[in-house]
Amino acid sequence: MDIKLDSVSKSFGKNQVLADISFSIPSGEIICLLGPSGSGKTTIIRLMIGAIATDSGTIHFGDTSVPNLNLLGKIGFMPQADALYDDLSGEGNLKFFARLYGMKLGVAKKRIDETLALVGLSGDRKKLVRQYSGGMKKRLSLAAALIHEPEVLLLDEPTVGIDPVLRRTIWQQFQAIRRSGKTILVSTHLMDEVSECDKAALLYNGRLIQYAPVDELLAKTVNGKIEELFLAAGAAGAAGATGREGGNDA
Ligand SMILES: Nc1ncnc2c1ncn2[C@@H]1O[C@H](COP(=O)(O)OP(=O)(O)O)[C@@H](O)[C@H]1O
Ligand SMILES: [Mg+2]
Repeated sequence: MDIKLDSVSKSFGKNQVLADISFSIPSGEIICLLGPSGSGKTTIIRLMIGAIATDSGTIHFGDTSVPNLNLLGKIGFMPQADALYDDLSGEGNLKFFARLYGMKLGVAKKRIDETLALVGLSGDRKKLVRQYSGGMKKRLSLAAALIHEPEVLLLDEPTVGIDPVLRRTIWQQFQAIRRSGKTILVSTHLMDEVSECDKAALLYNGRLIQYAPVDELLAKTVNGKIEELFLAAGAAGAAGATGREGGNDA
């Protein structure tokens, strides 16, 4: 299922947070939505799931335009802030989401086993989520996003606050999910996560400053650093704002 954003704009009050955003995501690819805090990543994802409406422009999943209730079953969404029940176990949370999607009990049981195994939480399934670490909650959120076998995954900063080792594991999981034929959009403010993706959309101040295959983007740089593309677009301070090495080591 290809995804297409066409001239999408969005304001909150007088504050325009997205200006004329257009890009397409081919089915089966993993796309990075990269930009510093406040650049509009979460707003794009909320528009894509239909949580909020565009002021102008359209979003399509295949031939279906957003918003459309039928799309919800096809999209897996992982919000930036964990939306989990602390008083339920990991397994209890997944049961809740399976019921929300109207999954049959047998199918739900099988998917709960599969997704817990995928995110490495099988051994902690009976533990209450309030006893989970931040990284475990992130992984459970990913399992919840996958429970109904969506065709498309929209993941809003899924690796924030996760240590580098676990980050590696999680990206390996995204790659495995991609190889199983899913389309994935991952938002991040971490420049180095771009190398994991097929294409990257560089967002700054609500504008799309680049959208291209990652190797093409890197070929445009002098030192092989994506930061340069933000600076070239006049986004001075963007590299520093992404919190990696201060951004000015060149
Ligand atoms: N519901 C809202 N009401 C008003 N302003 C908002 C709302 N949501 C986001 N914004 C503003 O839109 C801009 C982009 O925010 P966001 O999409 O969350 O960026 P990011 O996810 O890249 O950090 C910010 O300036 C933010 O303050
Ligand atoms: Mg955000």
